[in-house]
Amino acid sequence: MTQPTQSKRRDFFKTIGLSAATAALPGALLPAGDVLAQPATDIITRKIPRSGEILPAVGLGTYLTFDLLPGAPRNNIREVIKLFWDGGGRVFDTSPLYGTSEISVGDFATGMGINDQMFICNKIWSTGEFLSDDSHARKSFQQSQQRLWREMIDVVQVHSLVNVDQIVPVLKNWKKEGKIRYVGVTHHEIPYFGALAGHVARGDLDFVQVHYSIQMRLAEDRILPAAMDKGTAVLVNMPFEKARLFKIVQGRPLPDFAKEIGCENWAQFFLKWVISNPAITCVIPATSNPAHQAENIGALRGPLPDKEMRARMVKHMETIPGFDKLQEMPAYPGKTYNGIIRRGINARTT
Ligand SMILES: NC(=O)c1ccc[n+]([C@@H]2O[C@H](COP(=O)([O-])OP(=O)(O)OC[C@H]3O[C@@H](n4cnc5c(N)ncnc54)[C@H](OP(=O)(O)O)[C@@H]3O)[C@@H](O)[C@H]2O)c1
Repeated sequence: MTQPTQSKRRDFFKTIGLSAATAALPGALLPAGDVLAQPATDIITRKIPRSGEILPAVGLGTYLTFDLLPGAPRNNIREVIKLFWDGGGRVFDTSPLYGTSEISVGDFATGMGINDQMFICNKIWSTGEFLSDDSHARKSFQQSQQRLWREMIDVVQVHSLVNVDQIVPVLKNWKKEGKIRYVGVTHHEIPYFGALAGHVARGDLDFVQVHYSIQMRLAEDRILPAAMDKGTAVLVNMPFEKARLFKIVQGRPLPDFAKEIGCENWAQFFLKWVISNPAITCVIPATSNPAHQAENIGALRGPLPDKEMRARMVKHMETIPGFDKLQEMPAYPGKTYNGIIRRGINARTT
C-alpha cells in the first residue's frame, strides 16, 4: 500500500499541468484546450476552504456504475477512469456500501499507476455493538484500505449520517493520527437536509456531501450558506438526478445561449450549472459509459455561467415537460446495472 507524500501532492499539480500560482486561484479559468489528447492544463479548480488545497471541480462517483460481478465485462470502467484522469479529474467518491466499487477503483487505479495521486473520498456506514463501540468503523476502514490499496484515505464521510454523533469523533481521531486528511458527512434525501445543515453549522466538518442539481436546489436554503460560513468544502451528489435529467431532454437541442458558457452537450449544461455556485467544491457525477465520461469531464473547461446565466438556465429547464415532476420518475430510466447491489435488491423483491 502506498502513502501519498507532500511531494506527491505537489506532483499532482504538475501532472494536471497547474503551476502553484495558478492553482492558488479558486476557480481559475484558462483557455480551452483539447480535453483528451494532452495532459490537462486549463481546468476549473476549487480550493478546499480548510487547507487551501486545490481540487478539479469535476470528480467521479461510483454508485452502481463501478459495482461489477466477478467475470463481468469491465473494460468500459478502465476507459471511464482513463478519460477522467486524462481530462484532469482527480476526485473519486466511493463507499464500502457500493458493492465492488471500491475494488474497481483500487484495482484499476493501481494498474494505471495513479493510485497514490487520486484524491479519494470514501465513507463509513457503521453502528457498533453498543454506544460508542468504534470496532465496526475500524473494520470498515481497514477493509476499505485493502480494497482501495491505499493506507491513507483523503476524505472519510459519515455515509447518510448513520451513527453520526458517534462516528464524527472517531474520524477526528483518525485525522489526528494521519490515517485520513479530512472529515465529512453525506446525505442525499431531502428529509435529512435539516439535520445535514445542523451538522455543517456546528463548524467542525471539513466536507459535506449533498444532493444538488439544476432541478433540486434545496441545498441553497441552509446547507450551502452554512458551508460557506463555516469553511466547509461541498461535494455534490446526484447532479443528473440519477439520469432523469437526460430522459426529459432526450432529442432536444441545447438552447443557443449554451454556447456562451462553452457547453457542447446537456451533461456540461447540468454540471456547469452546479459548479458555478461558489459554495461548491466538486461535483461527482457517475457513469459506466466512456462516451458519457468524455462529455462530463469536458465540463472542467471553458467559461462558467454567472448568476444571471444560472437563472436563465433554470428558466429554460422549466419550459421542458417533466422538469417539475422529476422526483416521480424512476431512477436510472432505461438503465440496468448488474452488480452486487442489484443482486441484493432483486433478492429482496423476489
Ligand atoms: N448518501 C450518499 O452519500 C450518496 C447518495 C447518492 C450519490 N452519492 C454519490 O454521488 C455519485 C453521483 O450520484 P448518482 O450516481 O446517484 O447519480 P448521477 O450522477 O446524478 O447520475 C448517474 C447516472 O447518469 C448517467 N449519466 C452520466 N453521465 C451521462 C451523460 N453524459 N449522458 C447521459 N447519461 C449520463 C449514468 O448512466 P451511464 O452509466 O449510462 O453513463 C448514470 O445512470 C454516486 O455515484 C455516489 O458516488 C452519494
